[in-house]
Amino acid sequence: MKTAATGEIRKTCRATMMPAKLAAVLAVLALLGSVSCQGGPTAYPPAAATPQSPPTPTPTTPPAYPPTSTSPPPPRASPPAPTPTPTPPAYPPTSPPPRPSPPAPAPAPPPPPPAAPQLKCGRYVDVEAIVRKYVNATDAGMQAGLVRLFFHDCFVRGCDASVLLDPTSANPQPEKLGIPNFPSLRGFEVIDAAKAELEAKCPGKVSCADIVAFAARDASLFLSGGGINFTMPAGRYDGTVSLASETLPNLPPPFGGFTQLERMFAAKGLDATDMITLSGAHSVGRSHCSSFATRIPPAGNSSSDMDPAFAAQMQASCASPNGTDNTVAQDYKTPDVLDNQYFKNVVDRKVLFASDAALTFNFTTNNLVRAYADFVPYLWQHKFAAAMVKMGGVEIKTAATGEIRKTCRAVNSKP
Ligand code: HEM
Ligand SMILES: *[C@@H]1O[C@H](CO)[C@@H](O)[C@H](O)[C@H]1NC(C)=O
Ligand SMILES: *[C@@H]1O[C@H](CO)[C@@H](O)[C@H](O)[C@H]1NC(C)=O
Ligand SMILES: *[C@@H]1O[C@H](CO)[C@@H](O)[C@H](O)[C@H]1NC(C)=O
Ligand SMILES: *[C@@H]1O[C@H](CO)[C@@H](O)[C@H](O)[C@H]1NC(C)=O
Ligand SMILES: *[C@@H]1O[C@H](CO)[C@@H](O)[C@H](O)[C@H]1NC(C)=O
Repeated sequence: MKTAATGEIRKTCRATMMPAKLAAVLAVLALLGSVSCQGGPTAYPPAAATPQSPPTPTPTTPPAYPPTSTSPPPPRASPPAPTPTPTPPAYPPTSPPPRPSPPAPAPAPPPPPPAAPQLKCGRYVDVEAIVRKYVNATDAGMQAGLVRLFFHDCFVRGCDASVLLDPTSANPQPEKLGIPNFPSLRGFEVIDAAKAELEAKCPGKVSCADIVAFAARDASLFLSGGGINFTMPAGRYDGTVSLASETLPNLPPPFGGFTQLERMFAAKGLDATDMITLSGAHSVGRSHCSSFATRIPPAGNSSSDMDPAFAAQMQASCASPNGTDNTVAQDYKTPDVLDNQYFKNVVDRKVLFASDAALTFNFTTNNLVRAYADFVPYLWQHKFAAAMVKMGGVEIKTAATGEIRKTCRAVNSKP
């Protein structure tokens, strides 16, 4: 890695940049804030993801995340917890605002972490390694499911594992039975397995909400072949309320237009850039045909902006003589790799949902899509990691407002 002493901040990332492209890129950089040319599949240092630089607080994202000393979480092994690896230097620059005029990537180490820097219990139990082991044992489809599980958890009552709760006689319709979740949401058994081992080795210490967040992070790592590698802050508590009636109002629909999607993300403290960036997760996994039937023949019509040849392919894949709701890959080209191919597909109009196609909404958002598609190869990976951490801070519960569940499928019984 270069520092101010050994490198420079290039004026353009490609020596041979075309003027028109340069203008578009500058517009995108303005939207994104400062970025650097540095990058590589394994060069992403999770500086943006360290607990020392939490996401910018918003009205819906309490600044006390990860929990600070003012909101002590007594039963936790340790509140804010990075991965077992040492905290990396603060490069690339993480605070969005202005680029320093003298190039100074400031290799100064971040402030020392709070007393217990790692989420550990006992002397030898590495919590995050246990979660990672179970995620590693699954296939690419299940890993995609885990990324989506995290999104669906965070958007309904915050990242509090409310999506994991099973129906009970007192609450027969929990979130997981809500329309966008059932029956397509997957990954529950992976969370159960990790939780079981953690409870055996480390009872009452690791929340289901943190396990969901770690699992999504690890799934991103494996699906990207190591290119998306970041620290996920910990310290979330589990919620006790889970209602199917809250899924549709909070989870954006695939037929949504840009303005509706932007509003639904804004309600969670996430902006349009976060939304575009996170949509890149549609570079892995699958969709049921029912989720985009209105965009393809015969149910859909020629007003759909989907590439006609692609629409015909989807029609063939979705044709189902026995009425089965077939599934197709989100990313027709690299279906099992979490990469920026999704943005190329958006540009080519070869994406499934209206919500995907909507990302080219205006000049600015379209330029961001194009930048992710082809200008700076690793820009998207870097931004995706930061956006996942930001999403992981939505409406976090504390010891005062949540609990550490004993099993992820049920709230703790009252003493
Ligand atoms: C922008 C608004 C979004 C909409 C409208 C949307 C909608 C959908 C829909 C309809 C499906 C297919 C479900 C099915 O029929 O099986 C899907 C799948 C998926 N979504 Fe999204 N999504 C959005 C954002 C996100 C975000 C922010 C993430 C994560 C960061 C994400 C990750 C995924 C993944 C990984 C899959 C594949 C899941 C699997 O294979 O099991 N989506 N999404
Ligand atoms: C994932 O599992 C494979 C074996 O299936 C192993 O070689 C690899 O080291 C594991 N990766 C991590 C990060 O645990
Ligand atoms: C992820 O990053 C950490 C340190 O930042 C490194 O030790 C680890 O090997 C990386 N993992 C992969 C799979 O590249
Ligand atoms: C065709 O699609 C457009 C846009 O999706 C929709 O507004 C219109 O009602 C549809 N027409 C028919 C006949 O289904
Ligand atoms: C329906 O047809 C699909 C393929 O056309 C097949 O994979 C599936 O098993 C069938 N389902 C039933 C219930 O017959
Ligand atoms: C495009 O939309 C985004 C998100 O609403 C907004 O921030 C931006 O200013 C718009 N750009 C133009 C050129 O209208």
